[in-house]
Amino acid sequence: LSQVQKYRPHLHFSPQENWMNDPNGLIYFKGEYHLFFQYNPNDSKWGPMHWGHAVSKDLVKWTELPIALYPDENGTIFSGSAVVDWNNTTGFFPDEPGLVAIFTHHLENEVYIPPKQSQSLAYSYDNGRTWVKYQHNPVLEHDSNVDFRDPKVFWHHSSNKWMMVLATGQTISIYSSPNLIDWCFESEFGDNIGSHDGVWECPDLFELQVENSEESKWVLFVSIGDNPKFEKGSLTQYFVGTFNGSVFQAEHEDEKWLDYGKDNYAGVSFSDIPVEDGRRIYLGWMSNWRYANEVPTQGWRSQMTLPRELGIRKVKDSYSVIQKPVQELDVYFTRKEVINNKLIDKELRYDFDESYGMITLNIENMDATKYGVDIHHTQSNVTSIIIDTQKQLLILDRKNSGMNSFSDNFSMPQEIKLFDTQKLKLNLVIDSSSIEIFGNGGEFALTSLVYPDKACEEISLHALDGEMKVEEGYLLKPRT
Ligand code: FRU
Repeated sequence: LSQVQKYRPHLHFSPQENWMNDPNGLIYFKGEYHLFFQYNPNDSKWGPMHWGHAVSKDLVKWTELPIALYPDENGTIFSGSAVVDWNNTTGFFPDEPGLVAIFTHHLENEVYIPPKQSQSLAYSYDNGRTWVKYQHNPVLEHDSNVDFRDPKVFWHHSSNKWMMVLATGQTISIYSSPNLIDWCFESEFGDNIGSHDGVWECPDLFELQVENSEESKWVLFVSIGDNPKFEKGSLTQYFVGTFNGSVFQAEHEDEKWLDYGKDNYAGVSFSDIPVEDGRRIYLGWMSNWRYANEVPTQGWRSQMTLPRELGIRKVKDSYSVIQKPVQELDVYFTRKEVINNKLIDKELRYDFDESYGMITLNIENMDATKYGVDIHHTQSNVTSIIIDTQKQLLILDRKNSGMNSFSDNFSMPQEIKLFDTQKLKLNLVIDSSSIEIFGNGGEFALTSLVYPDKACEEISLHALDGEMKVEEGYLLKPRT
């Protein structure tokens, strides 16, 4: 492998060259999924932001297209969203519906210290290939807020208006508009609730149906920026509650985390997925601000998480967001090895010499104190997933997974508190430089980068001080 292709993922989007961060403007339109993204075309480190662009028919295989949005006199182009203006509310589309991007202009120069952030529009007549900036940008400004960014816009049917959720310091502000141009403040959410360990960024607000019920809930995603005081770096929390067209109200006090891994940030959902499909699909930036600028890829930096279908499950009396890789991924794995009713005492190894793979395991612990799965990327690069039945933890240990000297923080274990370590369903997706864990049908996720010399050679299942049983399992290998 050339240095540039080393670590290049197969199942995840990564830019051919240079720096990428947040997913932006995720939208489905006329048979294509669009992924725009924070992009610096001049360097493989963060810098003056543009919107890069890629399209896909199946959410897995992406084609990178030319840059969609360039900086202008109002500033560089920070994160934001896109919508289809089906009813020409803007007046931009007299002939047929098209796309509108709503993004943050970030202006930073001798005059603007601190920088100024405002919301602006651009529209496209050719399925997102080229864009016209709205003549009277910006459409939403603020005199005093320094952090005023990352608009996520959706059409709210019952109030017949556009809604915008915007990150405003350590709160989320909600605005409404009939036409995407004139915005009216509705409410602010976030004082005295949730984690305030960092600046709030990249919100998303949407409704989800609760599994096996007619009930639905509103979910608010909020990403929390890196704070050097905490070793976790940047990560995403969410709230579950109600939204009445003006105010979002959370129905819980506890903190809820979208992902227990270090590498899932700024995730937002796709707009305009057809009603017949009905899914809510999101993806995140698979990195962490703590070390994102230092990861050891050459000439390009960052990749997105797998696209994931979202749901809500009522567990005891609390509502949890659940997530699973989209079903479109299944056809990428056609060869499978079955593990059936296998008792594991100490260690059992399987050959798994593949450039990517998926493992599903339904585990019943017999009497092991610890058990788990090791991913032997090579003979010396190993990532361990350990379930500690005494501490009731699932731990992903990547200290021996490969290259890690670029950051002290990278080697620290990532953990999930489990309620039940005796029965566990695991689904692992392995790519050249990542491992994504989904547990118990999506009840928890742990997304983690790794930098081994190779994706995978062998898998071992292990148990300590006793036995564990794989009731049913599959090693899924790439289609040939
Ligand atoms: C989140 C973020 C956003 C901002 C963008 C700038 O990762 O900080 O708040 O719009 O990145 O690239």
